[in-house]
Amino acid sequence: MARAASSSPPEADVPATLEAVAAGVEACRRCELWREATQGVAGEGGAQARLMLVGEQPGNQEDLAGRPFVGPAGRLLDRALEEASVPRGEAYVTNAVKHFRHEQRGKRRIHQTPTAAHVSACRWWLDAERAIVRPRVIVALGATAALGVFGKATAIGKSRGRALQLPDQAQAIVTYHPSFLLRAPDEARRKALYGGFVEDLRLAWKLAG
Ligand code: URA
Repeated sequence: MARAASSSPPEADVPATLEAVAAGVEACRRCELWREATQGVAGEGGAQARLMLVGEQPGNQEDLAGRPFVGPAGRLLDRALEEASVPRGEAYVTNAVKHFRHEQRGKRRIHQTPTAAHVSACRWWLDAERAIVRPRVIVALGATAALGVFGKATAIGKSRGRALQLPDQAQAIVTYHPSFLLRAPDEARRKALYGGFVEDLRLAWKLAG
C-alpha cells in the first residue's frame, strides 16, 4: 500500500499565514517538480474557510495562471459546486501537490500523476494550510488528494459519500476527482458519477455548516 509519511518539519519553520505558505511553495525544493513547473500553486481562499477542497496537483492552465482549478477540471468543479449550493468563494481550494508534474511532448505538456513521494514531500504544505485554516470539513478530490489528506492510500469507491474522522478534528469526505468524471466512457456513466459527486459536495457543505 502506498504511504505518504508526514514530512514533519522543525517547529520554527512552520508557516503561520497563508501568505507565508504561498511564498514557501514558490521557493520549495522539497522535491524536483519545481524544475519543470512555471510556478508553485498554493491554495486559494480565506483563512477562516469552514470547507477545504483538495485536488491532485495544478494542471497546465493552473501552472500558467498560478491558481488552483481554473482549467477544464476547475470548470466542472465550479458547475458541481453551484449545483450543490456551495459557494466556491467560501471554500479554501488547494492541491495535494503544488507543482505541475508533466512530460513535455513536442509543444504539449502531458499531465503525469504525482508519485507517493511527491505527495509525501508536499504534505508539509498541505498540513500547514490545514493548521492555518482549520476547516471543519476537508473534501479529498480523488486518490492523490486522499493520500495527501490521510497519509495513506484510500479506495475512493469504498470511502466516498460518508463523513470520515481525521485526527485534527476535521471531518473528511472522499469523492471523485473532476477529471475522472470528464474521462467517463459514456454519457450514462458520466451522469451517474456526476450525480454522486454533487451529492458528496452537498454533504460536505452541510457538515461544514
Ligand atoms: N486538477 C487538480 O487536481 N487541481 C487543479 O488545480 C487543477 C486540476
